[in-house]
Amino acid sequence: MATFDLVIKNGTLVTPRGEQLLEIGICGGKIAELSPQIISDDSPTIDAAECLIFPGLIDPHTHMGIPIKDTHSADDFETGSKAAAFGGVTTILDFTVQQPGQTLRAALNQRITRAHKSKVDVGLHINLTDRPVERLNEIPGLIRDGFSSFKLFSTYREAGMMATWDQFRTVLRMVSENGGLVMLHAEDNHLVETMTRMHITNGEWAPIFHAYSRPPEAEAQAIGDAAKIARELDAPLYIVHVSSRLGLEAGLEARARGTKIYLETCPQYLMLDEFCYYQPHGHYFIATPPLRSQEDRQTLWKALNNGDIDTIGTDHCPFTKAQKDVGRGDFNLTPNGLAGVETILPLLYTHGVVPGRISRLKLAELVAGNAARIFGLADRKGKIAEGTDADLVVWDPTVQSVIRSENLHGADDWSPYEGHASMGVVRYTIRRGEILVDHGMWLENTGPGEIVTSHPIGI
Ligand code: URP
Ligand code: ZN
Ligand code: ZN
Repeated sequence: MATFDLVIKNGTLVTPRGEQLLEIGICGGKIAELSPQIISDDSPTIDAAECLIFPGLIDPHTHMGIPIKDTHSADDFETGSKAAAFGGVTTILDFTVQQPGQTLRAALNQRITRAHKSKVDVGLHINLTDRPVERLNEIPGLIRDGFSSFKLFSTYREAGMMATWDQFRTVLRMVSENGGLVMLHAEDNHLVETMTRMHITNGEWAPIFHAYSRPPEAEAQAIGDAAKIARELDAPLYIVHVSSRLGLEAGLEARARGTKIYLETCPQYLMLDEFCYYQPHGHYFIATPPLRSQEDRQTLWKALNNGDIDTIGTDHCPFTKAQKDVGRGDFNLTPNGLAGVETILPLLYTHGVVPGRISRLKLAELVAGNAARIFGLADRKGKIAEGTDADLVVWDPTVQSVIRSENLHGADDWSPYEGHASMGVVRYTIRRGEILVDHGMWLENTGPGEIVTSHPIGI
């Protein structure tokens, strides 16, 4: 008779082989056994009757405590990772913050120091925001050390973060030749700056002008330009936070021409639209890219099901009401970003699975499996299989609730999803075999999250 650190009984596992009624035996942080009936002595046991068991979510896009517009996003790795765990997220992939003049390695080391406060596992994408071409020679070593994804921005020139298309090409070549992956925040900077200047000159400072300043055309233009370069170099490319029909179409057109392009969207582009900007606190909803039309939302939902979109990342970047209020009356002064890491699973289950827009298996791929594969973590994470990390969410789909900011666990004091109904709740979040969350309670004395490295992406 075997002894396990933890056994989970009676749950329905959502796996690539379909939904399976299997019991899970966990040992040393790994899934040691999956079988119809686990015979063990008095191992601690969770009864997951009536529950679904998903792989722990991998959020490939978070920003804990990053500098934006004279402030920092409200969650640091400690608060943000707790919020993540309450939402069923067991791994976050965050970004380094490169100061002007700083090497990529120094920026990485600094970020790792902060990330050690995380309760969930953390991977780090390497941001290249300062003179990227001067940092080229660091790229092969970083990839060898397991930091194999690199992010560039085609906009944010005034914040000193933009890469020109020549710089993008040079970095993309170096990264892809070494087996890594470039991620791009894709907005055409010229169009964004022109539109922004025009609205400001006209005295048009209301939140909706944030959306008008960064139109879908800017997203589509930049995706098309980037994809053309990627095709010429035969390099894979990951586009973060696709928000619009036009952006999606530009990505799909590139894919049809043979570009290896991965597309990510975010819950806010599925759940919210530009009408939020007309609300009394419309400036709270300022995020980049902006919220779009209802038609854009519906198009993105459809694209989840047919495999056009690969991943859902939250772009978690919350700001409190007071932080947002600095930009009240001037969209250009409002720190951009929204919370999302704790609400991704309830929202996608309720608005995706329940109405039949996506299957449970598709949900598991979008929020865990695909990110694990794309970012080189699939040997450990993103699926429920023997030998992988025991990162699991026990999800009770029978319980109704309502999202209220006072019940969330991040540092933010409001939620973009306040009042949204949710069908289902997280019963347990288990990270590498440790129960972090049990029926809405945080379990103290759990170990820290690990910094996870990835194998170079052999795409
Ligand atoms: O508004 C957003 N998304 N803030 C975070 C930075 C970014 O562009 O992803
Ligand atoms: Zn971005
Ligand atoms: Zn982001």
